[in-house]
Amino acid sequence: MNVLLIGGGGREHALAWKLKQSPLLDALYCAPGNAGIAELANCVALDIEDHAGIIRFCKDTRIGLVVIGPEQPLVAGLTNDLEAAGIKVFGPSRQAAWLEGSKGFTKDLCAAHGIPTAAYARFAEAAPARAYVETQSLPIVIKADGLAAGKGVTIAETVEEAAQAIDACFAGAYGEAGAELVIEEFLAGEEASFFALVDGEMVLPLATAQDHKRAFDGDKGPNTGGMGAYSPAPIMTPALCARVMEEIIAPTAKAMRERGTPFRGVLYAGLMIADGAPKLIEYNVRFGDPEAQVLMLRLQSDLLYALLATAEGRLGKLVLNWHDDAALCVVMAARGYPGAYEKGTEIRGLGEAAADPNVEIFHAGTRAEGDRVLADGGRVLGVTARGKDISEAQTRAYEAVDKIDWPGGFCRRDIGWRAVARGEA
Ligand code: AMP
Ligand code: GLY
Repeated sequence: MNVLLIGGGGREHALAWKLKQSPLLDALYCAPGNAGIAELANCVALDIEDHAGIIRFCKDTRIGLVVIGPEQPLVAGLTNDLEAAGIKVFGPSRQAAWLEGSKGFTKDLCAAHGIPTAAYARFAEAAPARAYVETQSLPIVIKADGLAAGKGVTIAETVEEAAQAIDACFAGAYGEAGAELVIEEFLAGEEASFFALVDGEMVLPLATAQDHKRAFDGDKGPNTGGMGAYSPAPIMTPALCARVMEEIIAPTAKAMRERGTPFRGVLYAGLMIADGAPKLIEYNVRFGDPEAQVLMLRLQSDLLYALLATAEGRLGKLVLNWHDDAALCVVMAARGYPGAYEKGTEIRGLGEAAADPNVEIFHAGTRAEGDRVLADGGRVLGVTARGKDISEAQTRAYEAVDKIDWPGGFCRRDIGWRAVARGEA
């Protein structure tokens, strides 16, 4: 079967790497891809917003499955348009992608179905939002309703800070995504990323993972797309995973089915765990980045078979096997990220760093120029290693990081610290 993968980040490189191992795969195409993906797939410069163009390409190259990596094309309805043209897709419809596309929608769904999450209120104007904040305890969380590339969330410590966030949102700081906002209770605890395949009907959990969202060591500094991840996540005990499935994932799948917008794809629940109980922070409707990098390293089963089973509503018979090994990914980002950063700096030593068979280097924002590899984004590389436990995977990942000669980049030096400190290592 020919497969078209949409996206060009580290997540897509990891998916491409795993898809490439499938006995079901004939040719792999990726749009737009990156310098790392180009070693595994035919990268094609399709315009992701031009759905008719993508459909034409799929017909011309006899694509059997389109796998959509990022959220924007899902929320824009690429799945709907491809399916209407008779092309099979892994990834939810526009209506089901609303679970990520509107935080207010998800909060209302949780409220209607008793799914545990932070208390909240929705607003379309500043004055009532400001008045509401006065009645609540601090800190308080202000969120743009729509897709804001991870930037639409403010944790306000004071009423003034909350008011500023509300005003900025309605003044257009997040464009259309900020036309509405959600104000919610601050949840204390430890975060984890939970993934489940959902085929409209059945739900199947994936291995557990955690990421590090803050830019600097000690989980300090600004929020980012994710500076590193590891799997398994020791906090996610089998009992806790069972609770998440029963209290959060299964009722969500059921609710989406009942409203006539069944969810098919991978549902990513951002969780807060406190006193052993899970609460939903938010949903994403795609694999996490960099969580996909560690999950793909640990997945033993055929990814393409699993994605097809999900798209075709055959999850009931699917069993996924995972390697016992742990995996850990260190993201190397351009200096300045998540703020302004330089593009085009040269990265050397990738071959030497990847020589260890336990290490995979996934490219996120790179481009090739002749035989040189240049940085081409904020998050640039995901140096990923396996080991018998998190501690060994961490050591191997940093050994590889230290072989990479890239003065224009930086990384955190403490990815996995919670898991290592827990003695899981
Ligand atoms: P989100 O985009 O909704 O995942 O929010 C980004 C980050 O903000 C999350 O990963 C959390 O670290 C934090 N966050 C969001 N909502 C809350 C909340 N209600 N309580 C505490 N932290 C939150
Ligand atoms: N790792 C966070 C995300 O993928 O949204």
